Amino acid sequence: MSEKPVKGIILAGGSGSRMYPTTQAISKQLIPIYDKPAIYYPLSTLMLGDIKDILIISTPRDLPMIKDLLGDGSQLGLNLDYAEQAQPNGIAEAFLIGETFIDGSPSCLILGDNFFYAYDFPKLLRTAVSNLNGATVFAYQVSNPSDFGIVEVDENFKAVSLEEKPELPKSRWAVTGLYLYDHRAVEFAKKLKPSARGELEITDLNRAYLQLDQLKAVALGRGTSWLDTGTPRNLLQTAQFVQIIEDRQGLKISCPEEVAWRRGFISKEQLTRLTDALPKSTYKTYLETLVRDGYLNY
Ligand code: DAU
Repeated sequence: MSEKPVKGIILAGGSGSRMYPTTQAISKQLIPIYDKPAIYYPLSTLMLGDIKDILIISTPRDLPMIKDLLGDGSQLGLNLDYAEQAQPNGIAEAFLIGETFIDGSPSCLILGDNFFYAYDFPKLLRTAVSNLNGATVFAYQVSNPSDFGIVEVDENFKAVSLEEKPELPKSRWAVTGLYLYDHRAVEFAKKLKPSARGELEITDLNRAYLQLDQLKAVALGRGTSWLDTGTPRNLLQTAQFVQIIEDRQGLKISCPEEVAWRRGFISKEQLTRLTDALPKSTYKTYLETLVRDGYLNY
């Protein structure tokens, strides 16, 4: 177990080409997934892992808009920092950009377009965060393995090999866009060379840990929903998923204000004040009901 608290990074940049023309004028992180901006989902995921120090990396154009939305995070009991990625030079560049912010701590990186939802997922993440050693990736079975980073595992679910978007995948276990690293991620990222497509690959960083036999793969079971929101089709599917669950339960998925209160980052009084200041909306009504009734959280 590591002594310093784990720092979070949301990588929310990229060229946005898969969402063109929408992204011509707006960040894909601010497009709503059903009833809230896309970035609320990875933000809430980190918060459910009890991570409070978070760096948001995005493009020079989009970063000010994201800052307008989230500010310094103090309203949520968070400490939010921001940094630009000038060009989409690869996911592992997050560790070069984030070096000062990370400051020798362990870290948890989440890609802005990754959506996680499962009954036991927050607990699983908190356990992984508090037992952090080397690097941890979360693997999920997919029908289209050639579209992802793929981890091959042995019969004890020990990672054996890693490949980025292989033509002939050795398994159907995709490496999801949520990664935990000890304090050496920056040091290892500095040694990476750009791949054939010109990017610093997160798979190469993970391989550096695998070569030291310090990469843990955690299986996300079939009861987990892992979706990505990076194309119009996937965005719509994720929005429909959120709508179905929220309508059924009357509970919101990835509402950062709720998570902040449930995880004890803010008090009930702070939640009330924050809610009072919101414009009249169904979002406000939800939080008002929460403050009043405090739905049980099973
Ligand atoms: O979603 C999981 C997959 O994410 C992994 O299985 C792959 O190993 C990993 O390479 C990545 O694959 P993608 O093809 O989804 O990566 P993509 O280039 O789409 O980037 C994912 C997100 O990160 C996207 O929202 C844009 C953002 N991004 C990406 C790059 C390369 C940045 O902000 N900066 C970048 O330089």
